[in-house]
Amino acid sequence: MKNTQQLFKIAETAMQNAHAPYSKFRVGAAVLADNGKIYGGCNVENISYPCGTCAEAGAIATMVADGGRKIKQILIISDGKSMITPCGACLQRIKEFSDKNTKIILTDADKKFHHFRISELLPQAFEEF
Ligand code: THU
Repeated sequence: MKNTQQLFKIAETAMQNAHAPYSKFRVGAAVLADNGKIYGGCNVENISYPCGTCAEAGAIATMVADGGRKIKQILIISDGKSMITPCGACLQRIKEFSDKNTKIILTDADKKFHHFRISELLPQAFEEF
């Protein structure tokens, strides 16, 4: 199976497992890392709203814990009506582990794939201090 299709399946399964009783907006993410492994994540909300975490954050944290250090591809899916775009904080999280070749694949309600680079979604990113 093609990488992108595998990412889609893992992100979809993660989305179905999301804990989103407050927003009722489920999100799934799947990361293909430099070690060839795929890591899934979903949003995990909390009754104390600011404690909730995004799908991308979960997938990236799992990758890092397993030793992955570069995102080759990340695919994001939601059960919303329009194309899911990562929040600002998640763009910065993706940026940390991306390079110019990293593919960011956003999906819409028709399961169409929209390809982006991090420089398109987060131009002028904070990357030096
Ligand atoms: N959410 C994500 O998981 N990823 C994003 O990039 C955007 C927002 C989640 C957070 C919250 O659980 C729900 O979507 C509604 O904001």
